[in-house]
Amino acid sequence: MKKLKAKDLISLNLLTIDEINLIIEESDKMKNGPRNTNFLQGKTLAMIFEKSSTRTRVSFETGIYQLGGMGMFFSSKDLQIGRGETIHDTAKVLSRYVDGIMARTFAYQTVLDLAKYSSVPVINGLTDYDHPCQILADLFTIYEKRGVLKGLTLAYIGDGNNVLHSLIQGCVKVGMNITYASPSGYTPLESVVTESLEVAKQTGSKIFATQDPVEAVKNADVIYTDVWISMGQEDDKAKRLADLKAYQLNSELLSHASKEVLVMHCLPAHRGEEITDEVIDGPNSIVFDEAENRLHTQKAIMKLLMS
Ligand code: CP
Ligand code: NVA
Repeated sequence: MKKLKAKDLISLNLLTIDEINLIIEESDKMKNGPRNTNFLQGKTLAMIFEKSSTRTRVSFETGIYQLGGMGMFFSSKDLQIGRGETIHDTAKVLSRYVDGIMARTFAYQTVLDLAKYSSVPVINGLTDYDHPCQILADLFTIYEKRGVLKGLTLAYIGDGNNVLHSLIQGCVKVGMNITYASPSGYTPLESVVTESLEVAKQTGSKIFATQDPVEAVKNADVIYTDVWISMGQEDDKAKRLADLKAYQLNSELLSHASKEVLVMHCLPAHRGEEITDEVIDGPNSIVFDEAENRLHTQKAIMKLLMS
């Protein structure tokens, strides 16, 4: 049975091109094969959440059940981490009970530490830095719709956040071009761009930055946006809304793109802020297929890491 070489799924820049392709291939098998299987019969996944979640929690929990195993949800308050037990000790103890750990945390370092001290696979379910599982499902979705990834151009509009970091890392691995339009102060981390430019040299991808959303969408095959206020940034709400106002994905902006362009959003959306109702509910939008695919990709990831 095929497996990932990596022990954990921490970040897309830590996966090889082959591993990303394998996850996409396996997601397709999960979606188009039998819903219930016994690949993970009797196995358990501990799911640790420092932040809220609808899609990630429900898709992992449903996914492991459909694979014959069981997921256990813990908010960080439920665990002794909330009372000061270290990540080191938590990782070592959980490894004695469960077959995998999925964690959604504020600090990326927390996921790195969990992986370092666990003997079982650790899956990153979003951090302030990145969101690899989301972008694997997104790449699968684009592949499903277009039959190809290499050479396509994705335009990201808005805040240079965790989702954009994983999009940049993922797009360059599969040979897609990525353009991002973000105002100054909201651009992605330089380190992500610099590292990804190195990968792009091997795969032929291009990374292009602009402050003009119209310029970004003009030659795009896919337009992607995300919230302006990510979890943990609530205190800056007023400033962020004002600074990102010109970056709304609305009909006017969409009118500058190709008629066939795909519109994506990882969700949850703040309708009327980064995206309008008419765009998210319009004919170009594939956001609910994208959300559904979280389930199939989660199952692929768990099977490839945990079986
Ligand atoms: N896209 C995503 O990760 O959604 P949740 O925050 O609902 O898990
Ligand atoms: N950037 C968003 C993504 C949510 C799935 C956040 O971190 O809140």
